[in-house]
Amino acid sequence: MMQGIAGKVVVITGASSGLGEATARMLAREGAFVVLGARRVERIEALAKELNDAGGKALAVTTDVARRDDVQRLVDAAVNAYGRVDVILNNAGLMPQSPLDRLKVEDWDRMIDVNIKGVLYGIAAALPYMQQQKSGHIINVSSVAGHKVRAGGAVYSATKTAVRVISEGLRQEVKPYGIRTTIISPGMVATELPDSVTEPDVAERMHKAYESAIPADSFARTVVFAMSQPDDVDINEILFRPTSQEY
Ligand SMILES: NC(=O)c1ccc[n+]([C@@H]2O[C@H](COP(=O)([O-])OP(=O)(O)OC[C@H]3O[C@@H](n4cnc5c(N)ncnc54)[C@H](OP(=O)(O)O)[C@@H]3O)[C@@H](O)[C@H]2O)c1
Repeated sequence: MMQGIAGKVVVITGASSGLGEATARMLAREGAFVVLGARRVERIEALAKELNDAGGKALAVTTDVARRDDVQRLVDAAVNAYGRVDVILNNAGLMPQSPLDRLKVEDWDRMIDVNIKGVLYGIAAALPYMQQQKSGHIINVSSVAGHKVRAGGAVYSATKTAVRVISEGLRQEVKPYGIRTTIISPGMVATELPDSVTEPDVAERMHKAYESAIPADSFARTVVFAMSQPDDVDINEILFRPTSQEY
């Protein structure tokens, strides 16, 4: 077993597929207690059952991260079940990219609601518990797109840049409480993310690009790396890509 994982209570948003699901599996295998949030409840319930049947500890809570009450309920459920919250992985997100002149305003709204406000709601729900505990770890998922913007990706990049800015401000503010903060910025990782693109021509290009994406375990390992450091080591940012990715 890896150090610093077993027995930790970890809340994961967006645990029904992709990066969140892979991370839940890896952490549960290493002995963490995982609390899974997503809207597709049948998926997180099936995953929780699978992890529990394998001897792990997992709980599923239906969560729409665009609703503050839902996120609070998710974190409260972790504390009620296990007495504390050690880590929150604010991972839920979507990427319906398109050029601005297509005026996909509903997609912009959803990205802002989920990718930015969802992360803020996660912080709002977990921070008071972590301040009280005088320990905790807030891990926010940004992207290579939070470091670079390309035509067609303005709003998505804006949301992922916001995640980095919020995380850096948070990092400085939570020093008195011994809370750690990590930004993880993946490149192309094989998940359902390209399915969130709503414009057919953009979706086609995206699926083509994602043919060289790497497995979701790559992300889960970065979470394990950040979590497994000694308490006095705070891994603030991890940026990784497929070796073949140019952008
Ligand atoms: N894969 C990549 O290449 C890549 C690269 C950089 C960054 N990222 C980031 O990684 C994160 C995870 O994405 P993924 O790649 O794993 O994609 P994914 O397979 O599509 O998973 C997205 C997850 O977010 C959840 N989600 C979406 N809207 C939600 C909402 N309103 N409330 C709660 N959960 C919601 C989905 O669950 P439900 O639909 O069941 O609610 C799902 O579990 C995202 O923030 C994404 O921007 C991914």
